[in-house]
Amino acid sequence: MDFENMENIFILDHPLIQHKISMLRDKNTGTNEFRKLVEEIAMLEGFVALKDLPMEEVEVETPIEKCMTPMISGRKLAIVPILRAGLGMVGGVLALVPSAKVGHIGMYRDEDTHEPQEYYCKLPSPIEERTIVVLDPMLATGGSAADAISQIKEHGGVDIKFMCIIAAPEGVEKLNSAHPDVQIYIGHLDRELNDDAYICPGLGDAGDRIFGTK
Ligand code: PRP
Ligand code: URA
Repeated sequence: MDFENMENIFILDHPLIQHKISMLRDKNTGTNEFRKLVEEIAMLEGFVALKDLPMEEVEVETPIEKCMTPMISGRKLAIVPILRAGLGMVGGVLALVPSAKVGHIGMYRDEDTHEPQEYYCKLPSPIEERTIVVLDPMLATGGSAADAISQIKEHGGVDIKFMCIIAAPEGVEKLNSAHPDVQIYIGHLDRELNDDAYICPGLGDAGDRIFGTK
């Protein structure tokens, strides 16, 4: 599938990610297992999405001798889940970068219009100096992700990545054209949206499945 700005779109076709996404899709997967899978997939995706973190050589003394060896440098990380479902991915990324700061953006989709409604925004400061990873398992119409990222940019965010587990082509198109500078990491690109703007085949309502609500 072709999008306008392909160099910022990364579809992660690793067998471990695909296997875990198939387990997520199963309607018989219960809340407890669903949560664990979302966290594990987020960690696997985060491993790839953070591949360009800047490094610096530091001096370390091994039991044998002193050496110069690479460590992650200066630039700090902020993780920003889109509430609610993005919360399920936070633990997976924090397992990789425990010192990351965590902001939150609250969004819900209007059931009739499918337009995102923002209800909360709290970001670590100063946001402009950080690499920001926005988390949401589902990229459907793309409205929530595009608005959340606009909000982060209004607060001064510059270096932004977006990570989702399942995306619809419509959502990738929208996010990519609204924010061509943002790298988009996708666990699996699904077929299409249905009339209720749910992803097909998808996994249903991610927030409800993570938190056991309905
Ligand atoms: C879901 C999902 C995304 C959004 C995606 O959230 O977690 O935030 O829908 O849809 P979009 O790409 O069409 O905007 P929802 O609105 O169901 O809220 P919730 O996480 O609180 O359940
Ligand atoms: N939000 C979800 O949780 N699932 C979808 O398929 C679409 C939006």
